[in-house]
Amino acid sequence: MWTIGLFSCALMSFLNQFFSYRTEPLIVTQITVQVASLPIGHFMARVLPRRSFPVPAFLGGGEWSLNPGPFNTKEHVLISIFANAGYAFGNGNAYAVGIVDIIRAYYYRSISFLAAWLLIITTQVLGYGWAGLMRKYVVEPAHMWWPTTLVQVSLFRALHEKEEFPKGSRQISRSKFFLVALICSFAWYVVPGYLFPVLTSVSWVCWVFSKSVTAQQLGSGMHGLGLGAFTLDWTAVSSFLFSPLISPFFATANIAIGYAVFIYIIIPTAYWGTDLYHAKTFPIFSSHLFMSNGSFYDITKIVDSRFQLDKVAYGKLGVVNLSTFFALSYGLSFATIAATISHVAIFYGKEIYQRFQASKQEEPDIHTRLMRKYDDIPAWWFYSLTVLALTVSLILCTVLNDQVQLPWWGLIFACGMAFIFTLPISIITATTAQTPGLNVITEYAMGLIMPGYPIANVCFKVYGYMSMSQAVSFLSDFKLGHYMKIPPRSMFIIQFAGTIVAGTVNLSVAWWLLGSIPNICNDKVLAADSPWTCPGDRVFFDASVIWGLVGPRRIFGAAGNYGAVNWFFLIGAAGPVVVYIFHRIFPSQKWILMINLPVLIGATANMPPATSVNYNAWLIIGTFFNFFVFRYRKKWWQRYNYILSAALDAGVAFMAVLLYFTLTMENRSVTWWGTAGEHCPLATCPTAKGVDLSLDPTESRVCPVF
Ligand SMILES: *[C@@H]1O[C@H](CO)[C@@H](O)[C@H](O)[C@H]1NC(C)=O
Repeated sequence: MWTIGLFSCALMSFLNQFFSYRTEPLIVTQITVQVASLPIGHFMARVLPRRSFPVPAFLGGGEWSLNPGPFNTKEHVLISIFANAGYAFGNGNAYAVGIVDIIRAYYYRSISFLAAWLLIITTQVLGYGWAGLMRKYVVEPAHMWWPTTLVQVSLFRALHEKEEFPKGSRQISRSKFFLVALICSFAWYVVPGYLFPVLTSVSWVCWVFSKSVTAQQLGSGMHGLGLGAFTLDWTAVSSFLFSPLISPFFATANIAIGYAVFIYIIIPTAYWGTDLYHAKTFPIFSSHLFMSNGSFYDITKIVDSRFQLDKVAYGKLGVVNLSTFFALSYGLSFATIAATISHVAIFYGKEIYQRFQASKQEEPDIHTRLMRKYDDIPAWWFYSLTVLALTVSLILCTVLNDQVQLPWWGLIFACGMAFIFTLPISIITATTAQTPGLNVITEYAMGLIMPGYPIANVCFKVYGYMSMSQAVSFLSDFKLGHYMKIPPRSMFIIQFAGTIVAGTVNLSVAWWLLGSIPNICNDKVLAADSPWTCPGDRVFFDASVIWGLVGPRRIFGAAGNYGAVNWFFLIGAAGPVVVYIFHRIFPSQKWILMINLPVLIGATANMPPATSVNYNAWLIIGTFFNFFVFRYRKKWWQRYNYILSAALDAGVAFMAVLLYFTLTMENRSVTWWGTAGEHCPLATCPTAKGVDLSLDPTESRVCPVF
């Protein structure tokens, strides 16, 4: 368990961090480790020597063996929890690493390794402390059932049940299927990953209409609406939104509707119909920040030597503009938060309250009674961890304040916010499988209190929001351990070790790549076929500018252009009320209850950084497997669906790393039409009258003037 667990935790943090800088940041999830570690475990149990050695009495006595017995479910669960510590909640890598990335690759300043390491480790460990303190309320009660965890439980069951075939059957075993799919995926990735990268986003509409800006805006899969764009590259399918094979069809369908409405109705109307917020001066689909005349905003010009907003320069260069798509996607994220809170309050409020009341007096259920066999984790372990992490964070915010900008009161405020929200949000997740993301709220709050300080803002976000969402992720692991009867103390040690290992690996990989790839993340300077464009970090950087450096008052407030976007909070909050009213008027129409507004509005939450080709491919493949295969080939689906997903992820991940070490680092590249980007050069052009980008000597886009 220790060997495979440590190895997979380190490998997964390595891969996720490595990929986070790539244009298609494949996210390797816990399920991949869950599936891939099984054959390795069985293999080790078969070949390791069984000899046992006596252990000296002062070390506890008894016997020690390299091979204590068959590979069992509990070891397997612990391995996957170990690995999950390296997979920060829906994000792939430790969120705090984003701070290091933006400081070094976007602001061109520096942060010391020690400060960065402390920042990453304390945010993760604080979350762990919150989780420990809430365990009694959201893990032990049977009423807190954690629906997503149950999916994992059933996958463990399926993986460990004996495979029996009728005589003469031509079916192949799961592990053989895994191996074959892994090899195919591994081998194929040479093509889109190295020889023919155009296959990542086949935007044939652009190739047909090579002179038309409008056609390319419609057809580009990476900078446009992606009409007709498809992909033959697994990384483009499974980046940003995890693998489509593990998303239930109900969720896929809701996402498809939300996506179609946003991309094919709202954006075209705003862009061509109303020219909302001077939409046509900027590209139709972009996560960059712009000046009012259509040029890119050079943010480094408005940062002064103290790493704060240079108000004089800002006054001269003018306000920061977003593409209409980006502004609306912020609006949707406001609406999503409000809709989640009101949806949960209206449809689950009573249930949550009753479950919470019931869980306070209920008899311990069978799981809890069985778990009593093991020694529980003493509460002081969690208390001392929390106190230690808090102390170290306070030192970071006072002694090393020049590195993180966050004042000590900001830290206390962030921790208070996280602490207050952890319990309600974990109860919501435990009963409804929805986790409201508080990142925008934390950014907004800190941006109002302390505008002008970009790093203070992101540090506040990481302490306030990430420690809370880490806590929810740890709690869901605790529940998994509870269902699978894992000794609590082993869980504690594994999660703690995993957190430290993952954070350290994340940061080391970041340090290595930021120092060794020239112009990493700078997509204006990088060659068209360079994969190092860091789409996720770009959005993180934008957030630090919008909420921290410039501040929400100057963008979404009275002094800004985008004040109306705040109405989305109200729209989001009112949406579920409307659904509820319709439900009460037409109680016989059952489909009304199937409308899940938080999922519908939040469908494009990953956009940016995700682009339309990612969504197209994700939706088609998800529908194919979880609707058609699920419905008409149920046996096949049950046996192989998750295994296929894991094998595709793993094969691509290994090949991408291999390619990097063997070819890219040696500067061996092929150059031809198929490696020169997407071939939609006009998709990022402005279409407003009179905007002439050729007046700007730093501009690399070549566009017609309308
Ligand atoms: C926009 O304004 C900036 C600064 O005033 C200037 O450097 C840039 O060239 C202008 N861009 C265009 C397209 O006119």
